[in-house]
Amino acid sequence: MPSLVLERVSKRFGGITAVSDVSFEVPEAGITGLIGPNGAGKTTVVNLITGMYKLTSGEIRLGGRNVGSAQPHEVARLGISRTFQNIRLLPEASVLDNVIIGFHRHEKASIAAGMFGFNASLSEIREFRERARALLDRFHMARFAEHPAGYLAYGHQRRVEMMRAVAMNPAILLLDEPVAGMNDVEAGELGDVFQELASSGMGLLLIEHNIRFVTKLCQNVHVLDTGRTIAAGPPSVVMHDPVVVTAYLGTA
Ligand SMILES: Nc1ncnc2c1ncn2[C@@H]1O[C@H](COP(=O)(O)OP(=O)(O)O)[C@@H](O)[C@H]1O
Ligand SMILES: [Mg+2]
Repeated sequence: MPSLVLERVSKRFGGITAVSDVSFEVPEAGITGLIGPNGAGKTTVVNLITGMYKLTSGEIRLGGRNVGSAQPHEVARLGISRTFQNIRLLPEASVLDNVIIGFHRHEKASIAAGMFGFNASLSEIREFRERARALLDRFHMARFAEHPAGYLAYGHQRRVEMMRAVAMNPAILLLDEPVAGMNDVEAGELGDVFQELASSGMGLLLIEHNIRFVTKLCQNVHVLDTGRTIAAGPPSVVMHDPVVVTAYLGTA
């Protein structure tokens, strides 16, 4: 699968430079961490990768192909999917249907339009349902298949959102604080799922505040502070870097 490369990426909003000259790679078959205090620019990086924001300067490439000026639906079609920091589901639709929406990656209009404008044959729909059920098994969510997504506990809603992103079978999966608000057991289960996805060849970018979680899962970590890279490398090294320690303590 192709890897994702950011080269000297910057984003300004008026007078604020939210992301400044950031370069890193999300290789296939691995988990890369993106960490930093609140306001560091992490979500902005995700919004740049997915085409939601236009780059001020720099390049973003997926497997050598320049995706830096692609529209969000093109980026998704090329194999990059994401989760959001705030959950976005169809609350009244079942868990299974919420996941099936994820298969419809060519749709650029609203999620609901994607669902009801579905132009699929019966055999395609059957295949989608089978694939969705396999994903539910993988995320230990099979027992909730027919439940309305909006009434699930928070941790389970997050899983639905992740399944929807994984349903597209992306080359690159961007996870924006996927285990925030979960307990250690729930986070640990999801960590196992992330490792399985990486083993199957996917490249994951993990934005996360839980340092233990990041250290356990990530081969490399990229640290941002006020939009700039302050450290990068294996977690065992980066987490002991005085610059990183100061950045975290300074905002604690
Ligand atoms: N759409 C926007 N318009 C103006 N400023 C923004 C916008 N999005 C993000 N920012 C600013 O960019 C900076 C980085 O924000 P963000 O990427 O959300 O940080 P993080 O995800 O690391 O907490 C913040 O100062 C934030 O206010
Ligand atoms: Mg954020």
